[in-house]
Amino acid sequence: MLSIKSLTKRFPPRDGEAQVVAIDGIDLDIRQGELFALLGPSGCGKTTMLQSIAGLESPDAGTIAIGGRVVVDVAARRFIPANERGLGMVFQSYAVWPHMTVYENVAFPLRHGNRRVPDDKIRAAVMGALQRVRLEPLAERPAPFLSGGQQQRVALARAIVHEPRLLLLDEPLSNLDARLRDEMRTELRQLVKDLGITTVFVTHDQVEAMGMADRVALLNGGRVAQIGAPQDLYFRPASAFVANFVGQANVLPGRVVERRAYAGGVSVLFETAMGVFESTLECSLRVGEAGACVIRPGAVVVAPESRPGMTVCTGTLHRPVFLGDRIEADFRSGEGLLRVSLNAYDAVDPSAPVTIGVPAERCVIVAGTS
Ligand SMILES: Nc1ncnc2c1ncn2[C@@H]1O[C@H](COP(=O)(O)OP(=O)(O)OP(=O)(O)O)[C@@H](O)[C@H]1O
Ligand SMILES: [Mg+2]
Repeated sequence: MLSIKSLTKRFPPRDGEAQVVAIDGIDLDIRQGELFALLGPSGCGKTTMLQSIAGLESPDAGTIAIGGRVVVDVAARRFIPANERGLGMVFQSYAVWPHMTVYENVAFPLRHGNRRVPDDKIRAAVMGALQRVRLEPLAERPAPFLSGGQQQRVALARAIVHEPRLLLLDEPLSNLDARLRDEMRTELRQLVKDLGITTVFVTHDQVEAMGMADRVALLNGGRVAQIGAPQDLYFRPASAFVANFVGQANVLPGRVVERRAYAGGVSVLFETAMGVFESTLECSLRVGEAGACVIRPGAVVVAPESRPGMTVCTGTLHRPVFLGDRIEADFRSGEGLLRVSLNAYDAVDPSAPVTIGVPAERCVIVAGTS
């Protein structure tokens, strides 16, 4: 549905600063109906990417096609302007017009857009969009007399009123307080899924990306660090950067000491300061090569059954914090330290030595340590 190839955007140097490569040759393919997140730290190029898709930035190289129609092809000097791309957009600040009512705000694109809608169709379209975001009763209210969450819905209704093929949202929930944000996450996902609109949203909040999106592209310094379903990024991070950005992770530097065949494939033995861990996940490193072993705090089990593929380690728990269903603590063994999150029902006595295990299928070996 949305196909991006080798997209590059540079900003020229300013007052002695170096040139910024905001997007550095990115490829993306987004499917029809997909809810897709662009995630990454501040300055990684998320907004520039979204603005390029929208037609508000002109890239320096690459192509963008929406629904099979090429809207940007730098080499062929093709650039379709924003208002001809059939998009709905919600900006980082919702830009709801304060001198208008809710109704007028939502009707605006239909009255002033380049695909103007006949007057008699406007009312039905606006009320339909307001119904979608559950704002019908407030149609005649002036926009300033709305809560943050309601303004956010007005912006959303305005973006979907002309039934766009593609919806672009820049940090759509960032102005809301924590509770409302939780609520809107589920609601927003439901809304775009009901409408069936392909949606790309930008966020720096990994919880938001993981909780809402079908797939996530994690960006770093203008490049794609990893693309995949939230579970892929969490359980099979491609690098230590991904592991650290998405959830908590222990990143233990070390090297591969052995690759051995077993019934299910190849398992890798990886030596770290905490001992040798076994991994049965895909690993591109050869014997002797350095990298890191990524272990999620929740991957660790207490008093594990002894079986092949279980790395076992005895040590002590420090600074345990009881969080209801989980206990978080630092597990120390010799020189090594592992952040662990244990099931609180596995009654552990923090003052006594404890044996933990890391199953080989929960151990991810990555190249590099950052
Ligand atoms: N108009 C501009 N002129 C010069 N540099 C720019 C311009 N717009 C963005 N940049 C730079 O390009 C890089 C990417 O910016 P972008 O706004 O895409 O980041 P972002 O991922 O959206 O960050 P945030 O999470 O802070 O919104 C940054 O280094 C930024 O400073
Ligand atoms: Mg931004």
